Amino acid sequence: MHLKLENIGKIYNPKTDYAVTALEDVNLTIPQGSYIALMGVSGSGKSTLLNILGCLDEPTSGRYSIDDESVYRLDVCDIRNRFIGFVLQSIGLLPDKTILENVSYPLLVSRDIPYKEVKPMAMKALERVGMAELSHRLAGRVSGGQRQRAAIARAIVGNPEVILADEPTAALDSKTAGEIMELFKKLNSEGRTVVIVTHDIKVAEKCNKIIYVHDGKISEEV
Ligand SMILES: Nc1ncnc2c1ncn2[C@@H]1O[C@H](COP(=O)(O)OP(=O)(O)OP(=O)(O)O)[C@@H](O)[C@H]1O
Ligand SMILES: [Mg+2]
Repeated sequence: MHLKLENIGKIYNPKTDYAVTALEDVNLTIPQGSYIALMGVSGSGKSTLLNILGCLDEPTSGRYSIDDESVYRLDVCDIRNRFIGFVLQSIGLLPDKTILENVSYPLLVSRDIPYKEVKPMAMKALERVGMAELSHRLAGRVSGGQRQRAAIARAIVGNPEVILADEPTAALDSKTAGEIMELFKKLNSEGRTVVIVTHDIKVAEKCNKIIYVHDGKISEEV
């Protein structure tokens, strides 16, 4: 999937006294197979940009197209379910469900995956992040880093073409963070697009390209 943002702007609560311009005139093309880090200070617009790429939010101006088709003419729920794996900054696991149930969940909603394949697929994703042994624990009863790894498993369980991750290593020690980066590298080498928001230059340097977000604008591409 070829992602393209043209003159994208995002204003939160437009036409109110508390309107915030989060993105301004962003132009970005992300070919299939890219491996990109988004960096920038807190509040610069990284999550907003990632949310728009992941069809979790809509821009207030500009055009977002996937494979040259304007996104908002497509079925965004279907795109999210089939093609995009998203690791949220807030992680967002259901604490009263097991790790396995959490990771199975995307496969159970609006996907035509036979029920008997759900558990093996979820277990395979958990194995990739080193969490298979904790699959029966409740998500609310594991460590922050383990929750983060489960959230990554949930994002990759459906074999998405595009993986978008908002600070996926923030809660992890450097060894586990290194392992997660190896996993993203492997997923990228399989041809998947990977976009990671990070504050950690060591993490960003493992990607093929670093894009800096500054005051809602893309200020530099390396
Ligand atoms: N739901 C919202 N309503 C109003 N303003 C918002 C909302 N979400 C973000 N903003 C504002 O938009 C701007 C960009 O926020 P964003 O979350 O994209 O930053 P970020 O670069 O991801 O920051 P961080 O590194 O702290 O996660 C900030 O000024 C923020 O306060
Ligand atoms: Mg953010």
